[in-house]
Amino acid sequence: MKIGNHTLKNNLVLAPMAGVTDRPFRQLCRDLGAGMAVSEMVSSNSLLWGSKKTQRRADHRGETEPKSVQIAGAEAMMMAEAARYNADNGAQIIDINMGCPAKKVCNVMAGSALLQNEKLVADILETVVSAVSIPVTLKIRTGWDKENRNALNIARIAEESGIQALSIHGRTRACHYKGDAEYDTIRAVKAASNLPIIANGDIKTPEKARHVLEYTGADAIMVGRAAQGRPWIFREIEHFLNTGETLPEPRVSEIRDIMLGHLDNLYSFYGEFTGVRVARKHISWYSKGQAGGASFRNAVNRVETIKQQLAMTHEFFERLEQEKELAA
Ligand SMILES: Cc1cc2nc3c(=O)[nH]c(=O)nc-3n(C[C@H](O)[C@H](O)[C@H](O)COP(=O)(O)O)c2cc1C
Repeated sequence: MKIGNHTLKNNLVLAPMAGVTDRPFRQLCRDLGAGMAVSEMVSSNSLLWGSKKTQRRADHRGETEPKSVQIAGAEAMMMAEAARYNADNGAQIIDINMGCPAKKVCNVMAGSALLQNEKLVADILETVVSAVSIPVTLKIRTGWDKENRNALNIARIAEESGIQALSIHGRTRACHYKGDAEYDTIRAVKAASNLPIIANGDIKTPEKARHVLEYTGADAIMVGRAAQGRPWIFREIEHFLNTGETLPEPRVSEIRDIMLGHLDNLYSFYGEFTGVRVARKHISWYSKGQAGGASFRNAVNRVETIKQQLAMTHEFFERLEQEKELAA
């Protein structure tokens, strides 16, 4: 899989998720097998660039290459400015968000709402592509709603505008996250377009990953929610695609070690106050489905310090390990 001058080590991509795909989580997924990880989106509103939040989002120190940064917005010149700002701050690929249905994004006619206005799409893509010397990619949904699945038109516009890869989430904007993702539109786009295509939506297992790759003919797949609390899914998918074999579930001790390493990185990236809060959702995801997970989450979500959060997490995993050993 190639994006411009970058050759990815495999065809597995971590999806951009606001509030989730920060630098610690991106790096963790890269270490566990993802060939690329797209940053959470950075607003194209330059008034926000001075904020601590945006500066953190533009911090890519130590990150494995290629570093892809997503930008969102609806005004071509502002988007171009945002692309330049991020390229100057270490981004090696700029990804344009036309796939997010969030109200905050759609109300200002950005994210997937843009798909409704093909002329504006062309204007934004051409302006951003000519503003930077690094590759620009695009992320879309299949269309505005089920009656207006215009992914084929958007793919043509993207190709003509110099976009270097296209990620498609198999839902329309109106679908939000309801129902199952469909892959027919992605398949049709792949058949009609010369762009590298990244298929996205509801890929939760290695088997599903193989099915989506085979059915759509896509060059790569993108995984979002299934990596929450399971960043090793990339290694599982890679192994399955290469060998046809399913890796065993990671042992409790390995999950504990991955998670504690992740928490450490969150604390040093965000500091104690924000780090503890950001860690809560990851701890919840890691403990989902584990025995005693619900009461652990209930308790650990109330503590405010790194010391307490780590102590409770250690205790939970120690107990889990003992129970698993006894059951074995
Ligand atoms: C919490 C969350 C935040 C998201 N934020 C973004 C975003 O900032 N930009 C974007 O293009 N898509 C965003 N998405 C959509 C995902 O990138 C992806 O397209 C979607 O979740 C479908 O993939 P999945 O079924 O593998 O999760 C977000 C999704 C979630 C769950």
